Amino acid sequence: MRIYLIGYMGSGKSTIGKKLATRLGYSFLDLDNVIEEEQQQTVAEIFLEKGEDAFRSLERLALHQTFEMDDIVVSVGGGTPVFYENMEMMKRNGLCIYLKSSPELLASRLQRNQQQRPLIASLSQDELLLFVREQLAKRLVFYEKSEMHIEAKDLTPAILHTQVLHWIENKSKS
Ligand code: S3P
Repeated sequence: MRIYLIGYMGSGKSTIGKKLATRLGYSFLDLDNVIEEEQQQTVAEIFLEKGEDAFRSLERLALHQTFEMDDIVVSVGGGTPVFYENMEMMKRNGLCIYLKSSPELLASRLQRNQQQRPLIASLSQDELLLFVREQLAKRLVFYEKSEMHIEAKDLTPAILHTQVLHWIENKSKS
């Protein structure tokens, strides 16, 4: 079983993903961290030195490595589902859960660590909200292909765990 946590930057994928993995007894993987370890560079450095296209290609490779792993929760980057055939591949190889959040909540969360995220690092507060609104609107069509859509606000690891167990149970019956 593989679980992919999908959602915009700041939707809490890694925080809740780690807790979900612990509850399920699965491993946890943050795709950005995998890329950073393999490249020995931060995501921001990769964007700056090699460019976004190179990052997306590394991201695709890191994602494909997860298809060989079992009993794992993977938190993917906010852009992962949007590039190549990544979304279809995740759906084919696991359960995709979309953590939904409003642009307002995402922008307010992102303000706190904007510098680590190259796509938004230089934006003012007003620009950030506009950017998140516009980009989220474009990305929704990909995110919404996920099998499960869950409101991230007020989501606890216990609620997510229960929903995942229900999904696994129903799947084994069908
Ligand atoms: C990105 C999201 C980031 C990271 C990179 C690009 C995006 O991951 O992959 O900065 O395009 O939305 P998080 O969603 O984990 O912040």
